[in-house]
Order: sequence, then C-alpha cells, then structure tokens
Amino acid sequence: MNLHEYQARTLLRAAGVPMPDGDLATTPEEVEAIARRLGGPVVVKAQVHAGGRGKAGGVKLAKDPAEALGVARKILGMTIKGLVVQKVLVVPAVEIATESYAGLIMDRESQRPVFMVSAAGGVDIEEVAATSPEKIARLPVDPRYGLFPHQALGLALAVYHDFVLARAAAAILQHLYAAFIA
Ligand SMILES: Nc1ncnc2c1ncn2[C@@H]1O[C@H](COP(=O)(O)OP(=O)(O)O)[C@@H](O)[C@H]1O
Ligand SMILES: [Mg+2]
Repeated sequence: MNLHEYQARTLLRAAGVPMPDGDLATTPEEVEAIARRLGGPVVVKAQVHAGGRGKAGGVKLAKDPAEALGVARKILGMTIKGLVVQKVLVVPAVEIATESYAGLIMDRESQRPVFMVSAAGGVDIEEVAATSPEKIARLPVDPRYGLFPHQALGLALAVYHDFVLARAAAAILQHLYAAFIA
C-alpha cells in the first residue's frame, strides 16, 4: 500500500509521533488561507507517490501567504515522474538541523519485523542501501517480546550522539513499532 505524506502524518500522529501542524490543499487559494492560518514562512509540498519531490521542484519555501499562493500555482498541476500534482501539503517551515531515516519492514526470510535507521536521511534511502549499506543500522525484532526500550535507545544512538535527542528518537521508534503491529 502506498501512502501520501499527508496520510502518513495522520497515522503517525494518531500513533503518538510528534508531528508539526499543516494542512492539505487542492487550490492555490486554499494554500494561501492555510499559510495565513499557520503564520510565518511555510513549505508547500507536492503530494505524489514519488520520492525526490524536492529535486523535481515539487517542494518550495514561501515566506508569506502571497508567496505561498504563487508557489502553489506552480506546483499544483505540475508533473513529477509522470504523476500530475493534484494536492499539496502546507506545513510551517522549520530550520532543519539533520534529516534521519527510520523504516520498519516485515522481513519474510526471518519472519520478523526489521527496523532500519540511518543518519543519512532526507535522500533516496534505496540508494544509500545500495552504495553505503554500512550507513544503515538494522535490528530484527522478536515479535514475542516486541521492541525493548534499550533496543529502541540502541537504534536511536546509531543516529543521534546527543543523548537527549536519542531518548526522543527512541520514544518515536517505540510508537512506530506499536503502530506497525497494531
Ligand atoms: N517543513 C520544512 N521546512 C523547511 N524545509 C523543508 C520542510 N519540509 C521539507 N523541506 C526541505 O525540502 C526537502 C524535500 O522535502 P522532502 O520531504 O524530503 O521530500 P522529497 O524527499 O520527496 O524530496 C527536504 O530535504 C528539506 O530540505
Ligand atoms: Mg526527502
């Protein structure tokens, strides 16, 4: 099943993962109204089932509602990897310190959920897996016991050296696991 970013945000928020504000729009006027409600600079993000949206011009910063309107006019209707953009997500712009990756897959061979985390986030993770697999930490989870807190912290410490950040990331990984097996 493929999810859009806005759908994943709803599921993750329901699972207890901290999620920034934001809203979905299908017209430039809606984007402008959301930007006004959020206040401050926003990022307008194409909702298509494709990675690399930023590089394709489908993710753009706007400093105020007027600029958001203009940016939305460009992104709505554009084509990314053969997909026409019909919806955009409008979120507050944040200062990004780091981008990390966390994934949880069902590994058929071991018949276990396997966590994969990496500090090399924000880029094509399949490419990271192919070219520098050592940058991805893996942990098979015994489904009888679930993810122990010390395991979650171990994974988080593979991504964040700062202990406060690692604790917060570990809590997110436990929410992810709970949502995954639910
Ligand atoms: N809320 C935001 N605030 C500031 N920059 C953002 C925000 N969301 C995304 N970006 C920037 O846009 C880039 C692309 O967004 P991302 O969600 O990673 O989509 P994709 O991986 O499909 O290109 C990010 O790597 C980041 O630099
Ligand atoms: Mg990205």
